[in-house]
This record gives sequence, structure tokens and C-alpha cells, in this order.
Amino acid sequence: MEDSNKEPITTEPQESGAPAEQQSFSETPVKKRSSFTSKIGFVLAAAGSAVGLGNIWRFPYLAAKYGGGIFIFTYIILAVTFGFVLMIAEIAIGRKTGESAINAFKKLNKKWAFLGVLCAIIPIIILPYYSVIGGWVGKYFVTFISGGGAQAAADGYFTSFIASPWQPLLFFAAFVTIVFIIVLFGVEKGIEKTSKFLMPALVVLSIGVTIYTLTMPGAAAGVKYYLLPDFKNFSIKTLLGALGQLFYSMSLAMGIMITYGSYMKKENRIESSVHQIEIFDTGIALLAGLMIVPVSFVFSGGNPEVLGQGPGLMFVSLPKVFNSFGPVGGGILGGLFFALVLFAALTSAISLMETVISIIMDKFKLSRRKSCVIAYVGTLLLGVPSALGFGVLKSVSIGDMTILDMFDFLSNSVLMPIAAFLTCVFIGYVIKCKTITDEIELNGKFAMKKFFNVMVKYICPIGIAAILITSILDVAGVFSL
Ligand code: TRP
Repeated sequence: MEDSNKEPITTEPQESGAPAEQQSFSETPVKKRSSFTSKIGFVLAAAGSAVGLGNIWRFPYLAAKYGGGIFIFTYIILAVTFGFVLMIAEIAIGRKTGESAINAFKKLNKKWAFLGVLCAIIPIIILPYYSVIGGWVGKYFVTFISGGGAQAAADGYFTSFIASPWQPLLFFAAFVTIVFIIVLFGVEKGIEKTSKFLMPALVVLSIGVTIYTLTMPGAAAGVKYYLLPDFKNFSIKTLLGALGQLFYSMSLAMGIMITYGSYMKKENRIESSVHQIEIFDTGIALLAGLMIVPVSFVFSGGNPEVLGQGPGLMFVSLPKVFNSFGPVGGGILGGLFFALVLFAALTSAISLMETVISIIMDKFKLSRRKSCVIAYVGTLLLGVPSALGFGVLKSVSIGDMTILDMFDFLSNSVLMPIAAFLTCVFIGYVIKCKTITDEIELNGKFAMKKFFNVMVKYICPIGIAAILITSILDVAGVFSL
């Protein structure tokens, strides 16, 4: 390994690869790189990107699938160790270089430009299947506001919806088209502003639904399953599942936080910002799980098949809760809930598409408009197999993984751990920890510096590599059966 801080880091601000979402924070002329005006502005924007379907849809189903409490226990341990270290590192790289991922690694060391490219591939894989789930949310929204709440609560409704040949496709295409139109016309600013009101509304509504569901008979057993770790349920899959979820939910290991960091002012403190983003993101995920997992437990009587069903959990359990309020109350409540989730999904999908667009613009030197169209068409094409994977293309599967699960596995459980591993090696042995810790210490002491150094150099890379290799062998074992 070589020490390669030889390249001068220019302080000249550059505008390349900047998602428009963040440019909206600019009050400076176009040529200068914009920045967040305050620390709280930075924290909210980064948390806004982090909170999305990952928290509301993905975390609860993984928690239910991987044994409830033990998954949460593992997740929290990983969040305060691996998650903390990686988020600090990414934000510091971004702030130091003033660049988004694809250029940031190159600027620090030419030979490591490939890591920027690896990070860039990940959102391209995530956006299509994220939009498929966004389409499902849209379908449930439409169903509830058109008075179909009772049908949506019936057994088998979800399965027949996702298995139908055209419906998931239609809702997926509608979702991507809305995202495309918003991004094309550059009206994200308005959307972002609106989401500042709607996201708290989602939290309040979720708390209300949670309190209601926890008073249902049998909910106590569900809460126990959700919160109390049972070490019997622990397996290597729990570990990999939690690690992948951590990266996904906090938008790590894909360059997003590098981009956010590049917009952070030098006088704002990185360390405390990271604590706040982590608490925010994990809090919302835990709340969503508390809303969904115990109630799934109630309606299924703790049946592991229902709890372990995966991506459909939220869509199967929650409609039953809303329907218990009767046709009118249930319609309003369900309509409102899915509208708010749809909004959360849209804002995340918008920033994912912005990321993809800036990658296309940077890499192929195309105009923004052309890049938008390419991102749109590409997302549509790549999403079709995931949308059809539960019906027409059901036979295409590895073990019990559908096509959507495969994309999800590839990005969250394979590529993101690899990107995270390489980021640690890059920091610990190529540019050296000091480059990062100096950046963090620009304005005050880095309380966890020693911890950071040990984690980045030894524990994170070894831990991530071990988890990754064991689990891939595991899946390969399933595959060869
Ligand atoms: N973290 C987001 C969520 O929890 C998903 C996500 C991953 C994301 N990468 C992103 C959102 C990039 C915006 C930009 O749903």
C-alpha cells in the first residue's frame, strides 16, 4: 500500500455530480459550490435522504423475518459501530474533497477511482426495485381512497395483486414517471419543502397507529417477539441482513453521504451531526417496526410463515388494522397512511434518480435533459423483471429469492459490503486515518478518534469481509441444492 496524499487537494469548488436537491440549498451564484446554511439544515437533509422505504417497509419485514429482538439488537450494535464509522468517513471525504463519490476517490488517489465507480453502480441497481415497491404503495393508496379497504384487508389480496400480469407493472411505471417528471422539470424544491411538513405527519400518524395496535388482544406477545432478543434465533443471516439494512437505511456505501458531506460547511461539526442522523434514522425504523411487527404477530398468531414472508409484510398486516376502523374510518386512515408513505418513497426515489442522473452527466458528459431521459428509460427497463417477479416471472428465482429479492441481495448484501470494506481499506491503509480525523478535528475534538482508528483499520474490514464471505458461501450452498 502506498501513501498517496501527494495529489494536492484543490479548494476550488466544483459543481459536478451535485444532485439538484442539494443545490436548492444554494444562495450563492451558480459557479460556487453551495452549502447547507446551518448544521441543523445539514442534519435534516441527510436524515431526509436516509428516511424512506428502508425504514418503513424494509426494516420491519427484516426484523420479523430474522427473529425480532435479536435482529434489532444486532442492528443497533452495528449502527453504533460500523454505521458510525462509515458515516463519519463518508461525510469527511465529501467535505474534504468537495466532490461527489465518483470524483472524490479519484481526487484523493487516482488508483482508487474505481471505488467511486463501484459506489455509483449501487443506486442504479436500487432505484428500479425501489420504484416497484413505490408502485405497490401507490396501489394501496388508490385502493383505500376508492373505498377498497375491506378488499385490501382480505387474505390473498396482496399475493394476487403482485402476481397479476399487468397491475404491478402499471403502478411501477406510474411511480417512475412521476419521479421522472418531477426531476425533469426540477421542481424537487417544492417537494422537499412539502416533505418537511408531511414527514412529521407520518411520524405522528405512525405513533397513533402503533398505540392503537398495541392495545389489541395478543399484542403483548408480539411486542415481546419484536423487542426481546432470543439468542437461539441468531444466525449469520441475521448478521448479514442487519449489515445490509444498515447500509441501505442510512444511505451508506453508495456515495450519497460523500455528496452530502461535500455540501457541509467547514465550521459545522461532523461527529455530532452523525450521531443525530443515526438516532433519527434508527428511531423511525424502530417505530415502523413497532407498528407492523406486533400486529402481524396478532393477525397470524405468531405464524413464522407470515412473519417471515418478506417484502409483503407491511401490505398484508396494516390493511387489516385500518379495516378494523370500518369502511369510512378505515378508508380515511389507510388512504392517509399510504399517501404519506408514498410521499416518503417519492422523495427518496427523487434523490436516487438525481444521483443516477449526475452519474450519467459526469461519466458521459451529456446534458441534464438527455441524462434524465436515459435514467428514466433505464429504470423502467431494469424494473420490469422485479415488477413481474412474483407472477409471470415467478419461476426465475434462486432458492426462495424472487427477482426483486435478488437485486436487493446484490446491492445490499454483496456490493454495499464490498464498497464499505474497500472504503475502510482505502482510509486505513491508503490515505491513512489521519486524513479523515484531521478533517473532523477542523473544529473541535473528535471524541471517538481512537475508536474510529481501530475500527477503520481492523474491526470493520475484517468483520465485513467475514460476514460477506460466510453469507455468500451460504447462499451458494442454497443455490447448488
Ligand atoms: N435510505 C433510503 C431508505 O431508507 C434508501 C436509499 C438508499 C436512498 N440510498 C439512497 C435514498 C440514496 C435516497 C438516496 O429508504
